[in-house]
Amino acid sequence: MSENATALQARALARLETIWDNEQLEAWRVEYIGRKGAVNALFEQISALPHTERGAFGKTANELKLALEAAFNAKIGAIKQIELSKALEAEPLDVTLPGRRPSRGHIHPTIQTLQEIYKIFGEMGFQVYRTRQVETDIMNFQLLNIPPFHPARDNWSTFYVAGSDEKVLLRTHTSPGQIRAMRAAYPNPVRAILPGLCYRYEQVSARYEIQFNQVEGIVVGHNITFGNLKGTLTEFARRMFGERPVRFYGDHFPFTEPSAQMDVRCIICEGRGTDALCKYTGWLEILGSGMVHPQVLRNGGYDPNEWSGFAFGMGPERIAMLKHGITDIRNFWNNDLRFLEQF
Ligand code: PHE
Repeated sequence: MSENATALQARALARLETIWDNEQLEAWRVEYIGRKGAVNALFEQISALPHTERGAFGKTANELKLALEAAFNAKIGAIKQIELSKALEAEPLDVTLPGRRPSRGHIHPTIQTLQEIYKIFGEMGFQVYRTRQVETDIMNFQLLNIPPFHPARDNWSTFYVAGSDEKVLLRTHTSPGQIRAMRAAYPNPVRAILPGLCYRYEQVSARYEIQFNQVEGIVVGHNITFGNLKGTLTEFARRMFGERPVRFYGDHFPFTEPSAQMDVRCIICEGRGTDALCKYTGWLEILGSGMVHPQVLRNGGYDPNEWSGFAFGMGPERIAMLKHGITDIRNFWNNDLRFLEQF
């Protein structure tokens, strides 16, 4: 019987020598060391043997089993190695090539525009002053000469904070920051810009979003005139848009008097009035502005007999649209890389 085992071992190992793929290896495993394989068949013979022979036979069979299992495991590794080198030959790998760079994000076009605005006004001596996005009705409207139920409120469709009885709201513009900036600076002069998000309860379209940025500007001092307003904003437009005609156009805001919008010549039709971007006027509005209303100065703590000032508010998304010829404001919030990667 033990001769049997030796012969079996020799046969199995000789056969294994010739095997170089997984399919044949599996067939070999089934044939020799599988549940119904030759080794197990040997074990089944034990019970038929005389007691004196069983021990030796079992030992031999066990050694055979361990030897074949070891050879089998070694073969698995050898086949793996061969398959790997075959794959490498089929598809050569140059480990000296640089890896693929992870793609890097960049600054959002709105923020890029904001940073340009900060830079221009920073060079003119303006501070950046941030105020809150959740405001009171008093700050957002009443201290800006817009009493409750005043028809001017129609210009600022408002999100109110639930449960606040319409006393707390998401600011509809950065102008309440005028009051906060003045109160923080009094009795010193003010020269500040106030950037940040504003919210309006609008039907979203190519022109309107429910959230957008504004940059408010406020200057308060002695002998500040409309000439200062025009000079500052004209110079801002020159640095922002290059040499491009601007005009001031009469407007109305309850918190400035007199008030003006500033337009730049249309970047598409160059003033000919032939395209929809400028609504066929040849001019694009970029901001609202005016001399701070005496009552608003008073609300900020300043005596209008001694102090005067001007203020303005602009939309950086709108400025980015005009600068780059973007026609749909929703692009700024879509997070679409095809749009964002252009800037
Ligand atoms: N707050 C105004 C708006 O949102 C813009 C503005 C700011 C006008 C400051 C005049 C002065 O439309």
